[in-house]
Amino acid sequence: MGTILDRLLTGGPRLTAGMLTADLLHLGDELGVLADAGVELVHVDVMDGVFCPQFTLGPPVVKAMRTPLLKDVHLMVQDPLAKVDAFVAAGADLVTFHLEGAAQPLRVLQQLEHASNANDPARGIIKGVGINPSTPLEALEPLLDALDYVLVLAINPGWSGQHFLPGTVRRLERCRRLIEASGRPILLGVDGGVTRENAAYAASLGVDIVVSGSAIFDGTPAGPNARAMLDTIATGARTAVPA
Ligand code: DX5
Ligand code: ZN
Repeated sequence: MGTILDRLLTGGPRLTAGMLTADLLHLGDELGVLADAGVELVHVDVMDGVFCPQFTLGPPVVKAMRTPLLKDVHLMVQDPLAKVDAFVAAGADLVTFHLEGAAQPLRVLQQLEHASNANDPARGIIKGVGINPSTPLEALEPLLDALDYVLVLAINPGWSGQHFLPGTVRRLERCRRLIEASGRPILLGVDGGVTRENAAYAASLGVDIVVSGSAIFDGTPAGPNARAMLDTIATGARTAVPA
């Protein structure tokens, strides 16, 4: 069996389903619905009330999520260096922290490099860096030798249900070029404002991972919504421009 990175580098773009607007009191059921629909990753938005205004959840909830889905933990927190280990211990498969919240992002990546996947060490851990819409992409350059995943935010982090910022398209193109120039196997993802209406377009932008939350958990049955989103992303993938 290969690592998660090997798996995610092929056959994409993949949907990762954001849980912010799911029924959190019935999280186990919601995860089951996603798995039955064929979703492979669950996107867990962690907000600390400092990096962004809301509080959401921490390592105990990540640990309580018993699921065959890969746990894609998006840390919108200040000082991730002090916090990533607890999420790794809780079973995170992908750990994405924000450039803007870290005084020394390379140190966080180095710490993750030594971390072992608590579910199965053979899986490896995806070391991800998130970047806000207002941060110059050049800030990623010094980190390209050390990361596995760049998550481009299409919104300001903090709330679900925002509109996809149009400038994201240009940022994804530039990011893809940075990744190609690095010569390293790096995943590219987009997070925020992906709806049923624009998901095919988002999936056509050279990404490996597409986050979608409130379009799946919108108060109507999440299973059909997730299946529709998977289909829409697959349609978009067929129109993707080769990198
Ligand atoms: C925002 C989060 C996103 C977002 C996704 O701060 O990182 O994951 O909530 O939700 P939608 O798909 O509703 O934009
Ligand atoms: Zn997120």
